[in-house]
Amino acid sequence: MTEFYTGSPLLPEDLWYRDDFIAQLWEDLQNQHVILAAPRRTGKTSVMDHMAARPHNEFCAVSVFVQDLDHPREFLLTLLDAFHQKAPNVFRRVFETASGWIRNQLDRISDVELAGFKVALREGLPNTDDAWKTLGNEQFFPPVRKSGIRLLFIVDEFPDFILNMQRNHPHLVQPFLSWLRGHCMKPAPPKDNIRWLLGGSVNLSTTLDSLGALDLVNEFHVAELPVLTDDQVQDFVRRMLTHRKVQFAPEVPACVARRLGRPVPYFLQLMTQQLFRAWRQDQRTLSNSDVDACFDALIVSSAARDKLQHFYSRIQRYYSEPKRSAAYELLAEISLSSDGLTRTQLLQCFERVLQNQALTVAAHERKQLLHQLLRDLENDFYIVELTQEDQLEPNAASRYDFASGLLKSWWKKYYA
Ligand SMILES: Nc1ncnc2c1ncn2[C@@H]1O[C@H](COP(=O)(O)OP(=O)(O)OP(=O)(O)O)[C@@H](O)[C@H]1O
Ligand SMILES: [Mg+2]
Repeated sequence: MTEFYTGSPLLPEDLWYRDDFIAQLWEDLQNQHVILAAPRRTGKTSVMDHMAARPHNEFCAVSVFVQDLDHPREFLLTLLDAFHQKAPNVFRRVFETASGWIRNQLDRISDVELAGFKVALREGLPNTDDAWKTLGNEQFFPPVRKSGIRLLFIVDEFPDFILNMQRNHPHLVQPFLSWLRGHCMKPAPPKDNIRWLLGGSVNLSTTLDSLGALDLVNEFHVAELPVLTDDQVQDFVRRMLTHRKVQFAPEVPACVARRLGRPVPYFLQLMTQQLFRAWRQDQRTLSNSDVDACFDALIVSSAARDKLQHFYSRIQRYYSEPKRSAAYELLAEISLSSDGLTRTQLLQCFERVLQNQALTVAAHERKQLLHQLLRDLENDFYIVELTQEDQLEPNAASRYDFASGLLKSWWKKYYA
């Protein structure tokens, strides 16, 4: 890797530290459908792009980005179009021998450039409410299954699609999810040549749970994108700086790892880039105090601000009351602590929020609600439960702290 990536997905040749995970995903996909779970800016799309570009096990990997879709009909048309774009010859082979609507469109567009296909598809599809179902059940999947080609659909930002549908076409959410579930179950994955890899930054379990459709998740293996280890973070800093002939004290990479806390890869990139720029300006050996200065500059930089702001505003979008206010309150309190807060302290804070909202909730329910909230905040990468090794005193009560040191400093600066 030579360039700093500050936002865009990494090219497959530049994707470090993910080989084992990707190999494991391919292995999982042999017999299962998979959900790739990870919070924002941690490298999901990079992993999915890598898989689309370098498929294993004879899969034809078709990837789609569905963040802005809101209707099953668009979803299926997008899949068809992406399949056609990715492998026009395979697509033709699959549908040429089938009779039906897709075949007719193929005949119509044989002379049209690739980009015209989706338009032709859309124009040809009857505008009835459940045309999408017939399209999937009768026209799309049976010929694929009959052809025997191994087709992997890689769907990025799947939960957003479901949430959009919930907002704009709520009556379609349940039919769509049970339709998809049906296709995931029958035929059972080991006997099916179609596989799904669903990804997204919004927690899919939480999303489906809130829609009462958690059973779809049961048909999937949930793979969690590993958090970069301390060694990987240090290796990244060392390699990127050495490659640029930057002089730095040997303890600098460890200092970066310490300041970042649990690293969001994107912030790691920004931080290392910041260090490189500082060196370029002064041309002297970087030390830990440069790391501190860069860290402070990063918090107020515009590059980080948008992304950090996103952590703040996504609570507004995805958490409902009273969890929303409680999340803001708890995070503000934690950001002020030096080493996190205990569950008891968090419960007291949570009870204050309920009181302020004049909500009366029974004691056991309060604990339950807090438990759910902490789980969501953990899943969404805001906080971690500190392990015993992280704790200063042995056998101390368990504590929660910000997952990212950068996010914690930022939260304290602007929202505490
Ligand atoms: N393996 C990696 N090594 C170093 N940096 C990485 C790695 N993976 C991701 N990044 C950093 O994270 C940024 C975002 O990567 P990517 O778009 O793949 O993540 P994402 O989880 O899909 O993000 P989003 O939540 O915005 O969809 C990259 O621009 C890069 O800065
Ligand atoms: Mg992404």
